[in-house]
Amino acid sequence: MSDKKEPAVLTTGVQRHQDTSRFESTGVSRRGFLQGLAASVAALSAGWTTLSYAAKGGGPGGGTITRNPLWIPPVVSPVSYALQAAPATVDTGGGKLSNVLAYNGFFPGPTFRANTGDSVDIQFTNGLLEETTVHWHGMIVPPAADGHPRDAIMPGGNYAYRYPITQRACLNWYHPHPHMLTGKQVALGLAGAFIVNDTEEAALGLPSGVYEIPLVIRDAKFDSGGNLTYTAKSSGFLGDTPLVNGTRDPKLDVDTAVYRLRALCGANARIFKLALSNGAQFTLIGNDGGLLESPAVVGQIEFSPGERLDLLVDFRGLAVGTKVMLQDLNSGWNLLEFNVTRQVSVAGTLPSGTLSSITPLANPVVTRDFSFDGMSRINGKVYDINRIDFQVPFGQVELWRFRTGGNAPHPVHVHGASFQVQSRSGGRGVVYPWERAWKDTVLLQDGETVEVLIRFDGYRGLYVMHCHKLEHEDMGMMSNFEVI
Ligand code: C2O
Ligand code: CU
Ligand code: CU
Repeated sequence: MSDKKEPAVLTTGVQRHQDTSRFESTGVSRRGFLQGLAASVAALSAGWTTLSYAAKGGGPGGGTITRNPLWIPPVVSPVSYALQAAPATVDTGGGKLSNVLAYNGFFPGPTFRANTGDSVDIQFTNGLLEETTVHWHGMIVPPAADGHPRDAIMPGGNYAYRYPITQRACLNWYHPHPHMLTGKQVALGLAGAFIVNDTEEAALGLPSGVYEIPLVIRDAKFDSGGNLTYTAKSSGFLGDTPLVNGTRDPKLDVDTAVYRLRALCGANARIFKLALSNGAQFTLIGNDGGLLESPAVVGQIEFSPGERLDLLVDFRGLAVGTKVMLQDLNSGWNLLEFNVTRQVSVAGTLPSGTLSSITPLANPVVTRDFSFDGMSRINGKVYDINRIDFQVPFGQVELWRFRTGGNAPHPVHVHGASFQVQSRSGGRGVVYPWERAWKDTVLLQDGETVEVLIRFDGYRGLYVMHCHKLEHEDMGMMSNFEVI
């Protein structure tokens, strides 16, 4: 069903070992960022002589939009896995080959899938021309496995990411987090999904197998050669082409059944407003930190960089031949076409009642205020990789208050713990259904103050909090803090 994108990989395989001298000769200046460095995969892969392009049948050159089958990344176990970041050439739809940066040649990277209680052991190799790290966004991991910019892996270097999965079922993701280079590396292709399952979730009998679809939603920019390209902009990188799972103009053939969409916003800076073209509503069952207490029926959902959504979409009762579009109402984009192609009798159900029980955090003993200032500061300070901005006692419930006077959107993200949103004042003034239960990223718009309760009860040590508009992060809208 999704046989496209046999990633014409050039550099796959962690077996491949690159001689480091080659990287140095084409080093990319990270300081170039602030001068508006434009980066492209071509530039990044200049030193690679092994690029080869698989010949794929060219698409029809007609005038109407040909929709391409949605690509589904391979699902792998993180219990023992070799992962490499490197340039690759992939089919982004209809035989269009694009140079990207990819994990194991896949764009997006392989989907990790594991159970609560499993131990992750990922042997990572940096096949890029510049430093990188892998951050496991949403995973509660020890500081040494968190991909902190201080733990940069040099070109050709290796790092073992090892941690137990102690948290509940959820959809998380992984992406680079190197100092001042995150925006570029993510925009050029490095990101993948990480699904955690547990027994509580399994007991619900939610749609699974071909009825559970991961959706990595982002925007992108292609150069004239069809390769991903990136230009840092202090207001945030905005691409002109939507991609779902790395596919342009994607379509998915569906049965008359209930589907579970596991969506993550992998855009650098774009805020989407998701809706279905037939006016049907989503049954929202989860977000960043896993299942909600009970389902919420919603027609439109704001979706900002770093956030995840667990959505049920009901195609039962639709006639074969019906097309339903997943749309972004903010840009007017058609993101993904669902094409009802098969009538089935076992079609699943929508859950009602309790999905999970969420213990509310309460009685904060400390309040901390964080002002997201300009495009590069938190509480007036630009990120300093060597400075610890504050310390948080282990196991203590705290109230964190995020606010901004301007230059939003600022999707605020905290490493090391999930939080519970308490209130939003100013701006949109409400807490939305998709902001209930456990979150690790919350959208702050101009004039808003968002209060969350948070407790670090996983590990002690160094983490970061930052704006997940990746250009703001790279310019310094990030703080180091230490759980003590
Ligand atoms: Cu998804 Cu610190 O980031
Ligand atoms: Cu994170
Ligand atoms: Cu920001």
